[in-house]
Formats: sequence, C-alpha cells, structure tokens
Amino acid sequence: ATEIKAVITLFGATGDLAHRKLYPSLFNLFRKGFLADNFALLGTSRSEWSDADFQAKVRESISKVDEDQAGQYDAFVKHFFYQPHDVTNPEHYDKLNERIAELEDKFATEGNRLFYMSMAPRFFGTIAANIKSQGLLSDNGFNRLVIEKPFGRDFASAQELNKELTETFDENQIFRIDHYLGKEMVQNISALRFGNTAIEALWNNQYIDNIQVTLSEDMGVEERAGYYDQSGALRDMVQNHIMQVVAQLAMEQPLTFTDQDIRAEKAKALRSLRKYTPSEAAANFVRGQYAAGDNNNEYRKEDGVDPKSITETYVAAKLTFDSYRWAGVPFYVRTGKLLAGKFTRVDVVFKKPLIDIFATPANSNDQKLNNNVLTIYIDPTPGFSLTLNAKKVGQGYTTEPIDLAFSQSAEQKDLSPEPYERLFHDALEGNSTNFASWSEIADAWQFVDVIRQVWDHEEPNFPNYQPGSMGPKEADELLARDGRQWVY
Ligand code: BG6
Repeated sequence: ATEIKAVITLFGATGDLAHRKLYPSLFNLFRKGFLADNFALLGTSRSEWSDADFQAKVRESISKVDEDQAGQYDAFVKHFFYQPHDVTNPEHYDKLNERIAELEDKFATEGNRLFYMSMAPRFFGTIAANIKSQGLLSDNGFNRLVIEKPFGRDFASAQELNKELTETFDENQIFRIDHYLGKEMVQNISALRFGNTAIEALWNNQYIDNIQVTLSEDMGVEERAGYYDQSGALRDMVQNHIMQVVAQLAMEQPLTFTDQDIRAEKAKALRSLRKYTPSEAAANFVRGQYAAGDNNNEYRKEDGVDPKSITETYVAAKLTFDSYRWAGVPFYVRTGKLLAGKFTRVDVVFKKPLIDIFATPANSNDQKLNNNVLTIYIDPTPGFSLTLNAKKVGQGYTTEPIDLAFSQSAEQKDLSPEPYERLFHDALEGNSTNFASWSEIADAWQFVDVIRQVWDHEEPNFPNYQPGSMGPKEADELLARDGRQWVY
C-alpha cells in the first residue's frame, strides 16, 4: 500500500455518519497500511469536547471493526484531535488553521489538506467561504473537499451550492459522495461490460429489450422522518443513486479507464437521458406511499411525518435515452421503503431470437423461448447470473431456461472494502472516478425537477401500497402497457 499523507479536517465529527462509517473506514485504511504515521484528523462540531473525549469516541466507533486488531486501536486514535467550532464564526477558522498547521508539523503531512463536510447541508457554502477567507487552503500540498449528500434539493439550489463551493475549490478538487459508487458491484459494471466481448457486443438496442434497476429496502423511515418527509424517494434515491447506476449502464466506452474519461462518458450518457415534459413525466413516473402493515404504522402516522404528507416513499419510472445505442430501449427503475426485501439488482433483458425454430407443430404447446436475462446482484450478495435457453433432457426438442450463476464467496465479501473505505481512500489519493461530477448532478436534477413539479401540484391517492409488496399496482402497469413485466 502506498502511504497517504494528509491532515483531514472533518466538519460534523460528532455526527452519526462519522461514528458509523467514517472512523471505521479510516481504521481499515490504517490497518491495511494506506494510512500510517503521516496523517491526522481534526474533528470539529459545536460540542465542547477535548481531544481525549474525541479519542474515546473514535475508539468506541472502531471497537467493532476487527477485535483481532485491538492492539492497533491506541496507535490509531493518537492521530485524532478535536476543536469545538461554530461554522458561522470566521474567527473560529483562525483557530482551526493554527491547529491544522501544528498537526502538519507534528505528523509531517507535506501540506496536504482534505476538508470533509458531513453536516447539515445549509452550512456547506458558509464553510467553503470561510476556508478561503480565513486562509485555510494550503499553498504547498493538495487541497481537497469531500462533500456528503444531498447536493442541493433541486437544480437551482444545487447550482447555487456549486457556485459557492467553486469560489474556493476547483471542480477537480471537489469529491461529491454517492456511496453507491463505492459498491463493489456498481464498480464491476465497467469490468463486466468493457472486459467481455460476449457482453459488450450485445450491449445495445439491437439485442437488449429493456433494462431494469431495482433498489429495494425493507425498512421504513425509522428515525430519519424529519429529513425524509422533506425529501422523498425521488430526491433521496433517484436523483443520485439510481442516476449513477443508470449512467454506468448506459455510457459509451471511456477512451481510457481514468476518472476524467469515465466521468465524461457518464455525463454524456446523462445528457442523452430524455428530459420529460410535464405530461411525459406524469405518464412515465409512478409514486407510492406505504400503508399500515402488521408491524408498522402507515407512513403518515410515523413520528415526525406530516399527517397529510404527500411525500413519496416509492418511485417507479420508465427512462428513455435519446442516443443511437439506446433508442427504443426503456430503462425501468424503481425504489422504495418497506418493500419485500433489502436488495439492489440490475436485470438486463435481452431480445428473444427472431424466430423460434424449436416451436414445431409437434411440441408447440410446451415450447416457449424465454428472454435471456443477465442479472447483476449489487446487494446483499454480489454476483451475476445469466439465464439461457437449453434443451430439456430427454427425447424431443423442447427448451427450458437454465441459469449460469456466480456469487461472491463469504471470504471475497469479507475482503471487499465498504463503500466509505473505498471512497475515502480514493479522495485521499485524488482519484475522482467514483464521485459525481457537477455536470452529472446538474443533468440529474434537471431531469428530476420536472417530475417534482408535476407531483407537487397534484394530490396523490396515498397510501397506495402494502408493506412487504413490491410497490403500487401502477408500477406493474407501467411495464404491462409496453407488454413487459418486472423480472423480479
Ligand atoms: C441513502 C438514503 O443515501 O441510501 C437512505 O438516504 C437509504 O434513505 C440508503 O436507506 C440506502 O443505502 P444502501 O447502501 O443501504 O442501499
């Protein structure tokens, strides 16, 4: 492992994300040797903690990572420091700057500075402005910004935020987190496509009938109702995660496998996504909200949810790309809370052979060729499967579907870094392949804004789906009307 040298300044160090994901990820990078002697993390938030308090919290957060590594806990937490901080007070940044400089000396980090914003998004712009005005940018190492979602709540606010950030950081210094891009199998989409003639040669409208993307969750909104009721599934899952997965499926082959080329292709793919008119949006999008089930309240009765809320907890849609490769191939996508299971998958449905030569008069009753389906299992168990038609054992020539399947072993799964570990590593290395560029985000918002506007002006018939189902019946009708159905 190449050792990374940097001081990380974390805004939101007492937060839930930091505790659950960020410290364990950094610990993994530490025990694998990506981080060693020359790094430090300066945590900030409003709480009046001392360095010792902070180190105790970090220790607690990593205590579940790998108990065999307990011997390394002390060595790791010695790199953590804390500074109480009010993000709106410029003078507080002067203090931060002093402490960063001290840590740079102490840990010989060569002037590399990474700022990480993991707090209420309304402060993102203010923090960036103060980083610049109070001189926190390094002039002898790198300066990078990692920023958590949500990146705006519509195109206008995202654009405003981007403007604020780019006063301080260049586009190539900004790492916008979308944790789906840190998932093993999302990254594997490129390997599957561009590493296999048998796949990529068929990856177009001549051979593919439709593509289905499902991000299914079996939990409700839990304790995040305050955020979720203001957001809804369209903003929470479609604008970011679904768009990023779809972009990888739809993009052209990048010239080289570098962040610049890959991001350029993804951006191009999203530009070719047809931006719907309001009436197209109404026809091609379905929204849902969950009803009461055996073990749960209906959404409108959850703590923190407006009893008349029209926030959607489910979205299904038909997307269309105006590109030569994808003309005529619908991408059906869906996501929702309290569905039948927690899983993420992509089903690529190939066209049937033009003629079924096995359907002779003698066996025409039981003969039926199925569509080949390539499934990419993203979560929980990474893998692929491909259904083919094969001859049924015995006399005669009837066919039946068989399945070629690969799934990762438990051992491989253990070796596979968590999304946050990968993304933290990549940001520290300056590799932006798996971060969303401004152009991608802008297109995704412009696409989603139209849907939002249509929905915000019409009273939906909520609740409309049962917990444990795969969503409202309109989601099935969306495909049925094209003579298709969901594979799962
Ligand atoms: C987050 C959303 O971005 O992704 C959550 O805000 C959602 O609402 C989560 O539950 C799903 O992520 P994963 O990795 O569990 O599929």
